[in-house]
Amino acid sequence: MTGGPSFFDVVAAQRAHRAFRGDPVPDELVERVLEAATRAPSAENTQPWVFVVVRDEARRTRIGELTRQAWDGGAREYARGRLAPGFFDDVERGATGGVADAPVLVVVGGDTARCPTVTLAASVLPAVQNLLLAAGALGLGSALTTLPIVAGDELRAAVGFPAHVRPVAVVPLGWPARPLGPPRRRPFAESTHRDRYGTPW
Ligand SMILES: Cc1cc2nc3c(=O)[nH]c(=O)nc-3n(C[C@H](O)[C@H](O)[C@H](O)COP(=O)(O)O)c2cc1C
Repeated sequence: MTGGPSFFDVVAAQRAHRAFRGDPVPDELVERVLEAATRAPSAENTQPWVFVVVRDEARRTRIGELTRQAWDGGAREYARGRLAPGFFDDVERGATGGVADAPVLVVVGGDTARCPTVTLAASVLPAVQNLLLAAGALGLGSALTTLPIVAGDELRAAVGFPAHVRPVAVVPLGWPARPLGPPRRRPFAESTHRDRYGTPW
C-alpha cells in the first residue's frame, strides 16, 4: 500500500484533536492504524501493548464519564492555572464530551505479564505515537489522552481489562470537526546540545 503524505509532512502536522464529526471510521482504517502501531519498538521486543477498539455507544459514554470525573475531580483546577485560555478551553471541551464523541475510542493498555512495569509505559507509548501518526496520514484526527487513566480500576472495568493489564492511554479516532493549524513547538535547537549539556547546537 502506497500513497498518502510524506512521513515528514505527517509529523509536522501532528496535533491533538478533541472534536470530531460523527461519520464512521471503517474497520479497514482502524486496522491500518493498529498495524502501524504494532510495528513499534518495545523493551526486549515484548510488545506488551493491548488495544480495545470501542465503538459501542454505552461504553464510549462510560469512558466519557470517567474522563469528566477526572477533570471535575481536580484536573480542571490544576490545568486552569497552567494552560493559556484557548488551550484550556480546548482541553475542557475535550474532557467534557469532545473526546468521547469520537466514533472510535482506542483504550490502550500495557500487559504486565509480558513486560516488567519499569519499562511498560516506555514499551507501549511508541506504539501509541505510531498510531497517532498513522491516523494523521489517513486524514483522521486523534489524540493521546491520559485523563481517563486517573479512573484506574473503573476504566479497567469499562473495557474488561484483566488485573495484569494496566490502562495507559485513551486515543479517540475520528474525522476532525475542523482542520487544526500546525503544532507550535520550540525549535529543536533549544533543547539540543553538542557533546555536552550547555554547549548550544
Ligand atoms: C502523556 C500525554 C498525556 C496527554 N493527556 C491528555 C489528556 O488527558 N487530554 C487531552 O485533551 N490532551 C492530552 N494530551 C495532549 C496534549 O495536550 C497535546 O499533545 C499537547 O498539548 C500538544 O498539543 P498539539 O498536539 O495540539 O500541538 C496528552 C499528551 C501526552 C503526551
